[in-house]
Amino acid sequence: MLGNFTYCNPTKLYFGEDSLSNLGTELKKYGQNVVLIYGGGSIKKNGIYDEVMAILREEEKNVAEIAGVMPNPTLEKLYEGVEIVRNHKADLLLAVGGGSVCDYAKAVSVSVNCEEDPWEKYYLKFEEPSCEIIPVGCVLTMVGTGSEMNAGAVITNHDAKLKIGHVFADEKIMPKFTILNPKYTLTLPHYQMISGIYDIFNHICEQYFSGEDDNTSDYISEGLMKSVIHSSRIANKNPQDYEARSNIMWSATWALNTLVAKAKSTDWMVHMLGQAVGACTDATHGMTLSAVSLPYYKHIMPYGLAKFVRFAKNVWDVDATGKTDEQVASEGLQAMENWMKELGLVMNITELGATEDMIPDLVKGTIVLPGGYKVLDVDEIEQIFRESF
Ligand code: NZQ
Ligand code: ZN
Repeated sequence: MLGNFTYCNPTKLYFGEDSLSNLGTELKKYGQNVVLIYGGGSIKKNGIYDEVMAILREEEKNVAEIAGVMPNPTLEKLYEGVEIVRNHKADLLLAVGGGSVCDYAKAVSVSVNCEEDPWEKYYLKFEEPSCEIIPVGCVLTMVGTGSEMNAGAVITNHDAKLKIGHVFADEKIMPKFTILNPKYTLTLPHYQMISGIYDIFNHICEQYFSGEDDNTSDYISEGLMKSVIHSSRIANKNPQDYEARSNIMWSATWALNTLVAKAKSTDWMVHMLGQAVGACTDATHGMTLSAVSLPYYKHIMPYGLAKFVRFAKNVWDVDATGKTDEQVASEGLQAMENWMKELGLVMNITELGATEDMIPDLVKGTIVLPGGYKVLDVDEIEQIFRESF
């Protein structure tokens, strides 16, 4: 393992069927004014809203609400939330929902006391906050993003046709606490469940496919990938399997809470391509990743061949006897493709609403990152999008 790094993750996790019983203890640590943030209404249908409100009442909190945080939260919604939180003089933002709600709460938390325009400061200039941050707590209901234990906040600006994620460097932006109850994920539609599963898997890939040194993170990543593949097959057949769903939830947190990125350059190009698709189509995050993944990985395979061979052998149990490295690596990607199809993931961007006339915007909206096995040029990006239709 090479390089210098710092590791600090201050998010306190409460995991399991009884984990919400800890919310009261956490709420006692903050002032009276709480803003409850949630999405389009799933928490009202499945009863989580009532459970959380009962605890807020018990703790005698003065509660305001931001409802209707949409999947892929928008800049307009961010501005709206900032006003509500300012007026309420919030001491705590309580996000109850999926990655969109958790991300949104973090974006609001760094924007409430910010004197500059948050889009400009955080999403175009990628600056860190210089103002006071409102603390965030999460009750997670959708599994995949890792937002529950990281400092990422993705915001979509439809006018600019840009979807940009800022992973803040300051761990103060990570949630102070997160309640992880696998039972809450059992009401997710199948489409969202498998989308989240692929999001988890791809987060691990994005960190795994970089570097040539011997790094403990890669061994942890292989274990996480095997667990996700195993549990996903069980959950795909029986979504109510609590054990599988709880393993998926736990893997999601570890896939993107900064641990497996330590001492690695990390790739993240599938996410950059996927986010460009998201900006143009507003499609579900995990599906934007599945739709571009194979063209991308086939394209970079020759540049990171040794790692793709290792992936094939250690993650997909490909037997390498008598085969060339190229054959082994390709069999690994084939096994991944078979698994993706078995789950029912979207395998092309056409199905997500992308059309050929969007190609210039897709290419323009793709931020190029240098940490993977090949720094893509504009022609390569266009080629990968064309192969993704
Ligand atoms: O809005 P409601 O009605 O709650 O419905 C949601 C939403 O329609 C529904 N849902 C959530 N929990 C449910 C449920 N339906 C039934 N039962 C439940 N228990 O699921 C839909 C999707 O929710 P969303 O929060 O949008 O999904 P996800 O968790 O995948 O979050 C996606 C957002 O996170 C960003 C994505 O770009 C996207 O904007 N990401 C954040 C990251 C981070 N912070 O590090 C990294 C990721 O790569 C990702 O980019
Ligand atoms: Zn993701």
